[in-house]
Amino acid sequence: MLDGKKTLFSGMQATGQLTLGNYLGALKNWVHLSDEYQCFFSVVDLHSITVRQNPTELRQRARNLLALYIAAGLDPEKNCIYYQSHVSGHAELSWILSCYTYMGELSRMTQFKDKAAKHADNINAGLFTYPVLMAADILLYQTDVVPVGDDQRQHLELTRDIALRFNHIYGDVFTIPEAYYGKSGARIMSLQDASKKMSKSDENPNASIYLLDAPEVIMRKFKRAVTDSDTKIIYTEQKPEIKNLLDIYMATTGIGEQEAVASFEGKGYAKLKEEVGEAVVACLEPIQKRHSDLIKNKDYLDGVIKSNAEKANYYAAKTLRKVQKKVGFPVRVR
Ligand code: TYM
Repeated sequence: MLDGKKTLFSGMQATGQLTLGNYLGALKNWVHLSDEYQCFFSVVDLHSITVRQNPTELRQRARNLLALYIAAGLDPEKNCIYYQSHVSGHAELSWILSCYTYMGELSRMTQFKDKAAKHADNINAGLFTYPVLMAADILLYQTDVVPVGDDQRQHLELTRDIALRFNHIYGDVFTIPEAYYGKSGARIMSLQDASKKMSKSDENPNASIYLLDAPEVIMRKFKRAVTDSDTKIIYTEQKPEIKNLLDIYMATTGIGEQEAVASFEGKGYAKLKEEVGEAVVACLEPIQKRHSDLIKNKDYLDGVIKSNAEKANYYAAKTLRKVQKKVGFPVRVR
């Protein structure tokens, strides 16, 4: 609870370009929830370097991502939108929490196993302790709710376990956060292989819709989307490609399952892909327009970055001081 409101924290990595999965699974829900909560939305650049990055590209992507948060509808006057690397409390709390997290817990994280398999030449310690930094992000702001996509479920559970363990030893230090998953869109799958989630790091550009893709590119990618060899448009786990297209349609238009399925009755897959593509274009076009204006407005963005980092640092320091005292670090002489 901060300033009379419950607190919300979430973040995204600036690795690769943001996908429709990131938008429908997370960002869109952030916008919905932002009026209700005191919000912190971070561009989590510390997490990004667990995989090798080109420094110039990382900086550019981070700025693009921060601008996308605003373009998607998050007001930087009301929400704290900032770079994780501008608030040293994240790394400091992460260190402390890593001393309250077990190797066994971290070895069970499926994301670590997946990433370690994908980057076998660079299984660094940061990749392993990644979920601890994520717990630090969340707990640093005494967060009540964390809106994320389904793939973050295990990390959120671990965050809760770490917080409960710490509170058990030292009293009520951390708020225990709850995850928030949207009704639709929590798991958007690849357009080329519906058994894999849509991901920024997919090598096949046709597998993902990027938020800044031009309308004709979006339409083309949907046209090429893989479907089954049947013709029926029904919403079932047995038809993962069609289910995914319907999920995207429902999440972008806000239309419910029954109504969505009814609207495609008697239509073929080509029509389904076309209408889903049109719905996505209509949803993304205003965001793209705002983003292109924002990114040109250097002074405005720099102002947002500076003032919001100060705000985040202020709240982060409060929790950090409390934690440092609890674990027994000497009080600073002023
Ligand atoms: P990241 O950058 O991979 O993804 C950002 C958000 O997008 C969601 N998401 C999806 N949702 C639905 N379908 C998909 N295909 C899809 N792909 C991604 C993710 O669930 C996430 O909500 N570790 C986090 C970033 C992070 C964080 C945090 C999040 C760091 N600290 C603290 C919440 C709280 C990550 O890599 O997300």
